[in-house]
Amino acid sequence: MEFKEVIARRRSVRKFDTARMVEGDKIERLLAAALAAPSSRNSRSTRLAVVDDRATIDRMAAMRDYGAAFLTGAPLAIVVAGDRTASDLWEVNASIAATILQLTAVDEGLASCWVHVAGRPRLKDDPEGETAADYLRGLLPLGEGWEPLCVVALGYSDYVPKPLPEADDTARVVWAGR
Ligand SMILES: Cc1cc2nc3c(=O)[nH]c(=O)nc-3n(C[C@H](O)[C@H](O)[C@H](O)COP(=O)(O)O)c2cc1C
Repeated sequence: MEFKEVIARRRSVRKFDTARMVEGDKIERLLAAALAAPSSRNSRSTRLAVVDDRATIDRMAAMRDYGAAFLTGAPLAIVVAGDRTASDLWEVNASIAATILQLTAVDEGLASCWVHVAGRPRLKDDPEGETAADYLRGLLPLGEGWEPLCVVALGYSDYVPKPLPEADDTARVVWAGR
């Protein structure tokens, strides 16, 4: 797929074809692309956890009581994390990797949605209570020092997403030197 088309087609999809799993070779290409992302001082601080087990993904959907419930319909979930001890910019590095993962998904004919973890409480009304990150740590064999940034839900879309809506972005850009 042409890169321009990848950009134009990328939308957040929260409803997947539950009968269709993501093929192993596609998962390998997603992981390879995400791990090839640039990182501060080439620290390669990004870590990934691949979850394709239905029961575990269902439990991951409870990591936040807002914005994560749709994970129960996702055939695949990839936790994008960073090793805090490898880079002070682990969160930035992991964001770039997650974005490349999502764009690669489009190229592979897949759809995805970012579900945020870092800095979020499990329960909206209990901001000082258990964090989504600690809940995931209790559920998944994440390595020592791994800090989850987000979960990328992946699968084949259950519908054809509309293209990005037109927006007037002129105020978001300033040209210097004109
Ligand atoms: C940093 C970040 C955090 C996000 N967190 C969530 C989330 O927790 N749950 C969710 O359903 N979507 C989440 N999204 C997806 C956004 O809602 C989505 O990208 C936005 O509405 C624009 O829609 P589009 O991706 O289809 O262009 C997140 C996206 C980003 C970049």
